[in-house]
Amino acid sequence: MLILGIETACDDTSAAVVENGHVIRSNSIWTQRDVHEKWGGVMPEMAARRHVEVMEAVIEEALQSAQVTFADLDAVAVNHMHGLLRSIVVGVSSAKAIAFALDIPLIGIHHIEGHIYSNLTLNPDIEFPHLCLTVSGGHNLLLHVLDHGDYDLIGRTLDDAAGEAYDKVAKMLGLGFPGGAVIDRLAAQGDPTAFDFPRPMIDRNNYDFSFSGLKTAVSKVLEETKKSGGNIDAANIAASFQAAVVDVLVSKTVRAVHDTGVTTVTLAGGVAANSALRARLSQAGEEHNFRVFWPTLPLCTDNGAMVATVAYYKYRAGITSPLNINAYSNAPIGSRGVEYKPGKRKPRA
Ligand code: KG4
Ligand code: ZN
Repeated sequence: MLILGIETACDDTSAAVVENGHVIRSNSIWTQRDVHEKWGGVMPEMAARRHVEVMEAVIEEALQSAQVTFADLDAVAVNHMHGLLRSIVVGVSSAKAIAFALDIPLIGIHHIEGHIYSNLTLNPDIEFPHLCLTVSGGHNLLLHVLDHGDYDLIGRTLDDAAGEAYDKVAKMLGLGFPGGAVIDRLAAQGDPTAFDFPRPMIDRNNYDFSFSGLKTAVSKVLEETKKSGGNIDAANIAASFQAAVVDVLVSKTVRAVHDTGVTTVTLAGGVAANSALRARLSQAGEEHNFRVFWPTLPLCTDNGAMVATVAYYKYRAGITSPLNINAYSNAPIGSRGVEYKPGKRKPRA
């Protein structure tokens, strides 16, 4: 079964052809980095316009690389829940047009489901239940993945996502946008104990996160150093900042492993590319007896292949979408919805 997956949540335009949920025949991802980097962040209106300009070409490229034509497609899938609204509308309109013209099923998915399944695309044997820590510039969530289509959102950031904090700290250090990968590389040359940055909410008995105070702490150190005429050691700042982020992400995840009893943890989203996070979580896995998976780089970022993998399982479960599905910037994810608060578990229906 060949599914065309389309993803336009933020600043990547992506289309992919995936066979039977797991064989990536193509995964075209056109980044908009050139559009947004001079602004130091994603400009929503410009993102939507660029999606419109390139969507058709990205889909054509995905079909050509997969060596298929529209006529070979069995279904078309799209993220229609979560992201920048006008950006999502571009992907949704394209998917609807293709489904209508070819008379094939349309399968709408939630962007976060895509990240959950980004690990299953190439590792179909990942067992359920497991935990998925999905962290990017736009989201920072911990999910208890009970089964296909059955997820509990057990933790989330109360303010900035970790990727957003990376990008803001990179901006303060004049390292460009997005800055996660640059900080990751720079941190390798610095001393992670040089600055004792806060680990927000690390001792709270829940799985929620907060990174805005950490970002402010970095900005204060930079201001004070400038005022006193001292030299800013960017590598030490990057290493100490990264150590704080990773400490919080890993310790909350380990807490959730103990509380849920899972034996598998998956990392997803752009920050899943982080070398320190991968290393520390693997180490924690060895100490606490859980297996750790992360996706290949093209599957960490927003991409169409993960969308097609989710859609494959939905299709197999008999779930398709009507042609009048709407686009939502932030729809609830999981069986309990976004209101779920750890410690106050709603009874399962
Ligand atoms: O998933 P993604 O491509 O887009 C969304 O934000 O949805 O994630 C991009 C985010 C950016 O914040 C970027 O700085 C961060 O992922 N990122 C990293 C690394 N590579 C990308 N953060 C830390 N370490 C990295 N190696
Ligand atoms: Zn994402």
